[in-house]
This record gives sequence, C-alpha cells and structure tokens, in this order.
Amino acid sequence: MTNNVTPRRKRIVVCRGQYCNMDGRADKLLKRLQALVDEINGDQYPKPVKLEIANCLSMCGAGPNIIIYPEGEIFNHVNDDLLDEIIDEYVRER
Ligand code: FES
Repeated sequence: MTNNVTPRRKRIVVCRGQYCNMDGRADKLLKRLQALVDEINGDQYPKPVKLEIANCLSMCGAGPNIIIYPEGEIFNHVNDDLLDEIIDEYVRER
C-alpha cells in the first residue's frame, strides 16, 4: 500500500479505563486506531504519529475519550465514524 500522506507530528492518547472500555468499546477503537496510525506512519522513522494508552483521563462519563496533542483537543463519546473524522481532521496532512 502506498502511503502518500505527510502527517504532522502527533500524539494520540486513548483512554482504556474501565468506564471508557465498557463492553470493549475502547479496545475496538484502539484496534481501528492502530490500523489508521500504522497506515499513516508507513515505514517512516521516527514515526510521525504516536499512540498512547491512558488508564483514565478524568472524564469517565463522556467516554470513550481521546486527546490529540500537541493541540490538546479533547474528543468524547468517540465511535468509529467520529474516529475517522478526527484522524482526517487532526492527524492527516491535508
Ligand atoms: S475511564 Fe476513561 S476517562 Fe476515566
């Protein structure tokens, strides 16, 4: 697969705490997110996009939650569709 995007350096923090991961929702998002990040990073080194897992981001009732740095943008109630929008808007270079 050809990777023709040039992402800015980003850090994506995903909460995998007990509330965000109720019914495995965060695990499902993480699997999808890892595939998206792998696609964007390709074989670049250092990797322009880092994925990190948090145990709690202190906004449990709004989960699943994701924060994107360096902007510090917070996303709540993340599902597959919102995740795709987040990646397109904040992670992929346009
Ligand atoms: S469990 Fe995800 S914010 Fe607390």
